[in-house]
Amino acid sequence: MNHLLSIKELSQAQLLDLLALAKKIKNNPADYRHALDGKSVVMLFEKPSLRTRVSFDIGINKLGGHCLYLDQQNGALGKREPVSDFASNLSCWADAIVARTYLHTTIEELAEHGKVPVINALSDLYHPCQALADFLTLSEKFDDVTKVKLAYLGDGNNVAHSLMYGAAILGATMTVVCPEGHFPADEVVTEVQQIAEQNGGQLILTSDLNAINEQDAVYTDTWISMGDDTSLAEIEAKFKPYQVTQALMDKLGAKYFMHCLPAYREVEATAEVVDGEGSLILDQAENRMHAQNAVLVTLLS
Ligand code: CP
Ligand code: NVA
Repeated sequence: MNHLLSIKELSQAQLLDLLALAKKIKNNPADYRHALDGKSVVMLFEKPSLRTRVSFDIGINKLGGHCLYLDQQNGALGKREPVSDFASNLSCWADAIVARTYLHTTIEELAEHGKVPVINALSDLYHPCQALADFLTLSEKFDDVTKVKLAYLGDGNNVAHSLMYGAAILGATMTVVCPEGHFPADEVVTEVQQIAEQNGGQLILTSDLNAINEQDAVYTDTWISMGDDTSLAEIEAKFKPYQVTQALMDKLGAKYFMHCLPAYREVEATAEVVDGEGSLILDQAENRMHAQNAVLVTLLS
């Protein structure tokens, strides 16, 4: 493992190893206090962040490393100097680059031209750190994460893509329910279906809410992702049937609700569900740090 650009580059063993290491770090933080001694990590963010930025910064600190945040929100990477120069210069000083960008190709360019590991902190296509934290969260609730039935409702976006790859690599069954015209990218679906088949998993895609059966967990995300200037008014009627309500959770027999956050209550999910007993949102948020620390330790030590 040289980078974490997506989740798709991981084998099942690598993914399970990362989850196991994340649990070890979470349960025995003192053992990892010096894991990144002398290492510096640069974080480049073209988009806003609460969880990712803070969990990387504090997580790196807990591993004994040093973190430098470069705010790129006032000018996309590549404007003042080429992304390739950014990557090669940062590699002179930093031991790793964490990047949140609009275009996934910017993250690929950083990895191509830099000499240090690159970690995707969200791009238009993927959010691998989120999916790792989410499978870590599920693995804390279920003895065998590969058997979990996960349904994702709403926009077939970056978060959905990474969850789909993760589920397929684990050989789990995942159901993705989206309004017409908002399905995950075709190339992702094709690749995920192949990976799922190899691992004994299944990807079910549908627009029909009545077609979904019993689920362990229901996941949703914002209907409008960062960088998308669609107004809520334009899509609300189309998405409204896919709002996660308590009635839907009950109908699916789903014990747990998941959301990467930020959550828009009464939009993609009701406040009753987001703040309800079965909501795992804060477990997911906490686990961002442990999952990312497992990635950092794997890549840097
Ligand atoms: N879930 C997540 O990535 O949150 P932030 O956008 O706040 O980092
Ligand atoms: N799909 C959302 C995730 C935010 C963490 C976005 O890209 O804005």
